[in-house]
Amino acid sequence: MTDLSIELEQYILDHIDEEGEVLKDLNRQTHVKMLQPRMLSGHLQGQILKMLCQMIKPTNVLEIGTYTGYSALSMAGGLEKEAHIDTIEINDELEPFISSFINKAGCGDKISLHIGDALEVIPTLDKKYDLVFMDGDKRLYNEYYDLIFDKLNSGAYILADNVLWDGKVVEDVNPNDTYTKGILDFNKKIKLDSRVEKVILPFRDGIFLIRKK
Ligand SMILES: C[S@@+](CC[C@H](N)C(=O)[O-])C[C@H]1O[C@@H](n2cnc3c(N)ncnc32)[C@H](O)[C@@H]1O
Repeated sequence: MTDLSIELEQYILDHIDEEGEVLKDLNRQTHVKMLQPRMLSGHLQGQILKMLCQMIKPTNVLEIGTYTGYSALSMAGGLEKEAHIDTIEINDELEPFISSFINKAGCGDKISLHIGDALEVIPTLDKKYDLVFMDGDKRLYNEYYDLIFDKLNSGAYILADNVLWDGKVVEDVNPNDTYTKGILDFNKKIKLDSRVEKVILPFRDGIFLIRKK
């Protein structure tokens, strides 16, 4: 990040709502106790997810890639009373940490945590979704997309995170870099898919905003 973008990000953070207490604690504890805390969405993206939920008013939300629960709790903060989130995390060591924060936030009824591989869990979910936040393994985005597509209501949105992948999408790709290749293949697939409307939101690491027609 350049000095200017660090300064601008701070300016943005200084002018938006403050992070709530539970999210602040979750953010802090993730940085103290977890590997790769950079994976956490953080306050700016969390606030955007919350407000997108307020706008879209989804009844059923699916998240692929819970990590420590920051994005799930952020989205929960923007949902209507009867709405529900299914969130899937493959790393079972994270379960106690995630569950303790879901409970701290009083979201036990709102968020169901599924521990397992999304490729195996998604086919077991017998629901239609209005919003999907895709944030799991970047090499599997195409597979997640194919699995969830028939489970989306028409007019449903997918938000796919990290689709600019630190700018690597416009650099020469190392043939062994399967992560960048996964993102490039996904972005191309979405571009060519006439069943959806799409735009890339160029903030943070890029979010593909996709709407099923
Ligand atoms: C970028 S982190 C998610 C960050 C979280 N959504 C947030 O915004 O704070 C990606 C997570 O996806 C999980 N993951 C990777 N592959 C997965 C899979 N196939 N199924 C479920 N979770 C997966 C990883 O273990 C990791 O915790």
